[in-house]
Amino acid sequence: MCGIVGYIGAQQAQPILLDSLHRLEYRGYDSAGIAVVGDTLQVEKCAGKVSALEAKHPHFSGTWGIGHTRWATHGPPTDSNAHPFLDATGQFALIHNGIIENYQGLRQELVTAGVPLTSQTDSEVLVQLIARADKGDTLAAVRSVLNRVEGSYGIVVIHRGRQELVAARNQSPLVIGLSTGEQFVASDIPAMLRYTNEMVYLQDGQLARLTPSSVEISDLAGASVPLRSETITWNAEDAERGGYEHFMLKEIFEQPKAILETMLERVPDLDLGLETVRLPRRIRLVACGTAFHAAMLGKVLMEQIAGIPSEAILASEFTFSGAVGEPGLVIAISQSGETLDTLSAVREARRRGAQVVAVCNVMGSTLTRETEHVLMTRAGPEIGVAATKTFTSQLVALYLLAAYLGRRNRHLEAEQVSRLVAELRRLPRLVQGVLDNHQAIQMTAEWIASAKDAFFIGRQFNYPTALEGALKLKEISYIHAEGYAAGELKHGPIALFGKDTPVIAIVPKDETYAKMINAIRESGARGTPVIAIATEGDQEVAQVADIVIRIPESEPRLSPVLATVALQLLSYYVAKYRGCEIDKPRNLAKSVTVE
Ligand code: G6P
Repeated sequence: MCGIVGYIGAQQAQPILLDSLHRLEYRGYDSAGIAVVGDTLQVEKCAGKVSALEAKHPHFSGTWGIGHTRWATHGPPTDSNAHPFLDATGQFALIHNGIIENYQGLRQELVTAGVPLTSQTDSEVLVQLIARADKGDTLAAVRSVLNRVEGSYGIVVIHRGRQELVAARNQSPLVIGLSTGEQFVASDIPAMLRYTNEMVYLQDGQLARLTPSSVEISDLAGASVPLRSETITWNAEDAERGGYEHFMLKEIFEQPKAILETMLERVPDLDLGLETVRLPRRIRLVACGTAFHAAMLGKVLMEQIAGIPSEAILASEFTFSGAVGEPGLVIAISQSGETLDTLSAVREARRRGAQVVAVCNVMGSTLTRETEHVLMTRAGPEIGVAATKTFTSQLVALYLLAAYLGRRNRHLEAEQVSRLVAELRRLPRLVQGVLDNHQAIQMTAEWIASAKDAFFIGRQFNYPTALEGALKLKEISYIHAEGYAAGELKHGPIALFGKDTPVIAIVPKDETYAKMINAIRESGARGTPVIAIATEGDQEVAQVADIVIRIPESEPRLSPVLATVALQLLSYYVAKYRGCEIDKPRNLAKSVTVE
């Protein structure tokens, strides 16, 4: 989820690289760096924003170079972990976006060969390997190394004596900007729009060689690929949103990738880097807002999958809870890692001797710095105030953590763990299935758009989903919405039901199904319009609900991810229908740093 830029031509590279990096800053980054080839290969990089890099006053003369803004996934945001990376001989510089899955093995190979490594990143391994494979042709060296690499990457490599940029892509965006006598490359179009609107989208498994006057594309086997360019007609602001109307929609659609990246390297072996966590007798999960809904599902997962009694506690209530003084394990969940209530709960828990695992999306945030164990979600920067991709990534992190603790606790047989992990690996594809259904969901939004109140109901795994669905709707559409465990309807809310109070029922085909169908009947009997989120192929539900939104069939414990994505889309389209300011809802902040 980092930002990449590259330039080669007749102009001075440094100002273009810095300007392009600034244009990527809207995404939020934690480190920045540039490398420019002049008489020598010159590099400057540091933790912080692009302005921190500029404050170092690099004055690099040279007409080709690369620049990078980092969103940390391996190693905290420090000067040494910032890109570009040089190889040990200082001939090559490289920038990388993505995650190298087999980097531990490759790193070991370099250590054994006596290559000095200066960072904790997976990216540095690439440049060292490229330098060792080099026989005078950068493209050939890059290709031979990438043929050994597993994982996702967008990279750009330069050599101090060769007037060219070599770029390659696998599951990480990279676009080439064409111009006369100069060429650009970047991870995002907005970085280049000021200079050119003629773009070539590099595809997975493709490499490119850029000189001032040419761009050649080839594949990993060495076969050349014809150049196909497109003229971009978006303006810079549209381009930041990748062509989506809102960041929220873009982020909803980024979920297959966010989920995949959160699992990369960690499955199938459940290698979470948490070996030093002591197996607890009790778990408390603390969080706020949307992250608290992840905590609620986390509680159920920890009990069912790991066999450890657990409790989800609102971070702001933690110090008042009887559980505050208990030792054991606290799982603190926070997208930003800066929510003060969550930090206060963690500080109190640590003061009283608890171990803490942080599930967080921002490496280097206060939460990750103050806790000894960290399990990163790798959703990338989230700009929309309403959390979307970070929530589903938190759920994925919690599935992994529960399976890991369950294996250590011997609560699960090895075979059961593998089955769950295999199901998890299907998740990005299943989520894509929900996204592909967005038009049907959009049509349903009209049904809710004029309501004053809405009720979301679910049971068991999907009780937290109901709460999250209701929160999303009220946050961005300003419709009053409540989430309920479906069994509670008859204890109060049903008094309000009528034709103007739509009910959104989460009804996957699992052990809650029959009872959910009853709840729908009870609601329908009051004239309430019912929208069901139900499994593909389920015919029965269509007889009781007014509208059915389909989600793919999945292992029951994973259905909250799929139902959540459908509900995010539903809220989004309702808010759009009502003309709301979706990315910045009134009175809400992305990160709440007051108690
Ligand atoms: C704010 C945001 C929510 C978020 C909550 C917790 O209220 O608007 O989207 O869920 O804070 O934030 P955190 O960064 O700790 O997950």
